Amino acid sequence: MQIIDSIQAMKSLVREVRSKGQTIGFVPTMGYLHQGHLTLMRTAKEKCNFVVASIFVNPLQFGVGEDFEEYPRDLGRDSKLAEEAGVDVIFAPTVKEMYPKGYSTFVEEERITDKLCGESRPGHFKGVTTVVTKLFNIVQPDLAFFGQKDAQQSLVLKKMVKDLNMNLEIQVLPTVREEDGLAMSSRNSYLNSSERQSALLLSKSLNMAQNLIEAGERRVAEIKKAIHKLITQDTLARIDYVEILSLPDLEEVEFLEGSSLIAMAVFIGNTRLIDNLVVEV
Ligand code: PAF
Repeated sequence: MQIIDSIQAMKSLVREVRSKGQTIGFVPTMGYLHQGHLTLMRTAKEKCNFVVASIFVNPLQFGVGEDFEEYPRDLGRDSKLAEEAGVDVIFAPTVKEMYPKGYSTFVEEERITDKLCGESRPGHFKGVTTVVTKLFNIVQPDLAFFGQKDAQQSLVLKKMVKDLNMNLEIQVLPTVREEDGLAMSSRNSYLNSSERQSALLLSKSLNMAQNLIEAGERRVAEIKKAIHKLITQDTLARIDYVEILSLPDLEEVEFLEGSSLIAMAVFIGNTRLIDNLVVEV
C-alpha cells in the first residue's frame, strides 16, 4: 500500500489506474480509523478494483474553540489498519497542500445545512463540502463511501453530487456500533470511563424512541420529550440538540409519517457526540 501526500502524485496515479479501465472506490476520512471506517474500506474493495482512502483533518470544518488541534492523529496505526482492510493508496496531504496561501474558493449547500449540526456548528458543512469536492476532483472515484452515523453529512454530500452533476455515486453504510450500542467515532477516544458509560445514553435513548414508535407513538413532541428526559437524568450529559425531521429534506414535522430522522448531538463532559436513527412508519 502506498501513502501519497502530494496532489500531483495522487492525480497521476489516478490517471494510470483509470487508463487500465479499473474502477476507483474512495473512503474520505479524518483518520484515527475505527471499525466504521474499516467497514467502508472493505466494502469499497468488494465493489471497486482500486481503493483510495484519504486521511486529512480538515481545518475548514472546525469552528473556533473546537477540537482541530486535539483531534487524534496516528498515520502509522491508520496505515496498517487500512492496508489490512484492502486499501491500495492512502492520500494524506498536508493542510498547506490542500489550502495553499491565497486559497479562496468554497462550495456551499444552502438548503439542508442550516439545521442540526449545521446550526450548532456554523461553517462546518461549508468546510465539508469544500474539502470533499477537492478530494473528489483529485481522486475521481466511481463510488465514494460514507457512514450513516454522520446522517446529515451524507444527505448534504448526496445533494451536492446531484446538484453539481458530479460524476460519481455516494453509498452510505449503516452505523457500526460497539457491542454495548455506542456508535463508533474517533472522538470516543476522548471519553474517560465514567463518560464512556454516560455516552451510552445516545443509543439507549434512540432505542427507547424506537420502542415508543413501535408501540404506536407518532407525536414528535412526545418522542423528543421522552429522549430529553432520559438524557438529562445524567449530570455528565448536556444536550446540544435532539430533532426529528423528515427525510430526505430535513423538514420539521409534528407527526411521524413516511421516513424520518431522529438525530441528536450530546456533550458528554467536553466531548460532543452524535447519533441518529431512521424510522419508517
Ligand atoms: O466524516 C468525516 O470524517 C469528514 O467530515 C470528511 C467527510 C472526511 C471530510 O473531512
